Amino acid sequence: MNLKKKINLRRTFGIISHPDAGKTTLTEKLLLFGGAINEAGAVKSNKIKKTATSDFMEIEKQRGISVSTSVLSFNYLDKKINILDTPGHKDFAEDTFRTLTAVDSVIVVIDIAKGVEEQTEKLVKVCKMRKIPIMIFVNKCDREGKDPFDILDELENKLEFNLSPVTYPLGIGYDFNGIIDLLKSEVIFNNDKLKKIELGSLINNSSKINERIIKSLNDDLELIDGIYPKFNYSKYLNCEIQPVFFGSALHNSGISLMLDYFVKYSPPPGKKEAVERIIDPEEEKFSGFIFKIHANMDPKHRDRLSFIKIVSGEFKRNNMYYHVRGKKKIRFSSPNSFFADKKEIIDKSYPGDIIGVHDTGNFKIGDSFSEGEQIEFIGIPSFSPEHFRYIINNDPLKSKQLSKGINQLMDEGVAQSFTLKLNGRKIIGTVGVLQFDVIKYRLQHEYGAKCSYENINIRKACWIDEINSDKKQLQELFVHKSKFIAFDKDKKVVFLADSDFTLMNTKQKYDKILFYEKSEF
Ligand code: G4P
Repeated sequence: MNLKKKINLRRTFGIISHPDAGKTTLTEKLLLFGGAINEAGAVKSNKIKKTATSDFMEIEKQRGISVSTSVLSFNYLDKKINILDTPGHKDFAEDTFRTLTAVDSVIVVIDIAKGVEEQTEKLVKVCKMRKIPIMIFVNKCDREGKDPFDILDELENKLEFNLSPVTYPLGIGYDFNGIIDLLKSEVIFNNDKLKKIELGSLINNSSKINERIIKSLNDDLELIDGIYPKFNYSKYLNCEIQPVFFGSALHNSGISLMLDYFVKYSPPPGKKEAVERIIDPEEEKFSGFIFKIHANMDPKHRDRLSFIKIVSGEFKRNNMYYHVRGKKKIRFSSPNSFFADKKEIIDKSYPGDIIGVHDTGNFKIGDSFSEGEQIEFIGIPSFSPEHFRYIINNDPLKSKQLSKGINQLMDEGVAQSFTLKLNGRKIIGTVGVLQFDVIKYRLQHEYGAKCSYENINIRKACWIDEINSDKKQLQELFVHKSKFIAFDKDKKVVFLADSDFTLMNTKQKYDKILFYEKSEF
């Protein structure tokens, strides 16, 4: 089979949701329907329980489990499906943002009772910014929830979606009897004995279902027909239209309909932008990038697993590839592929696939690999952390270990580090307070370094484009606001504001300086 065919058979996507909406359950059911696992419960939940905020080791253990669930691959019909796991917990939102650089589309899961929640809003924003095609699964229709129309309204208003319903529930909660395939005008009942019938025969002969449900269904269907646009493939690919599905992951309802539709319409691996040029997956030469690094929590095996998304060409085990940032040739002798919930060594891989490679601390998130060409993929920016603290070395004899540990943990993307221009003090910035404990624990157990933290009044980090900003204003800023100026780990200049007010004032006063909310501009 040629490369083009192989690419067209691959679908790499992420499932995103607010915690508890049913992402893990849906993932598992997709695997069950795909025949990749035989029983429910085989996929370990990667979710971090809310109660565990103080027990960070427990969290790391749970994250350890997630190595095997970071990528779940299975074959369905003629396609190879790769599901990339995205933590729902907001303290690990950076992880999810980065994983979204490696997907070709997403499925958003919504809890019908809770509607659009905070984390969903944030993640959808990122997907839209990156023009990632989106499908929506409204879950838990077996529970008393909102009226489906209210949910559709909420999705349109809060997420600015242009919806195209593909399925619709036959009743909600106690009344939930099945799913209607709007494209085929068929009803698929939850009760196996009733199975599938034509929608028309249900409406004209309602002996099977309560009349009240049929009446309200009739009204709803008329509205759907009148209000919502029909699916349009190119609009979906451009993120201008979002197909929406209803169902219950727990009760296997509406899943196979969505899976069949997904396999038919979701995009295969596409082109990817690099600093130098746009890379086409069909190019013969291999290229790829690291979007996730997973540390081994076992101190006896200090290696890490880096996840590479293959962008173009054919990847071959034991070939020499060029590590662009390290300017070195590297051989991957035991790359892993992921099938269902297992991982195994593979010889070849293709665009869209994810491979896991072991390393001992040479790789960083965002690193690119090629067959020699200088390719630096873009689209893995850092966003401003939400919590900042000074990090203090508690054992002066171990300062080397501390600095190595901090650097490696930052390369893994656990948090961000900044160095104040004024006095060289190190600041750690995290998305959730949890990571401070994780960093402290890991520095001690993996690097033998002891640290503590000191509070600092910073609210937001803003990156400054040093090259294109006005030089005179920059000089003034460095003098007058010196206590706010720092460098990130890549030596980029960052303004660390103590309040939104300071930031706004500074931007107004230094209007020829280019401030950015993310590290890539
Ligand atoms: P997450 O990964 O998005 O965080 O959610 P997860 O799948 O773990 O689901 C969260 C809870 O919602 C689970 O219950 C799960 O069983 C339940 N759930 C998922 N889909 C449905 C559905 O379609 N209908 C109903 N009624 N419930 C659903 P839990 O009690 O928190 O966990 P568990 O003890 O069942 O694992």
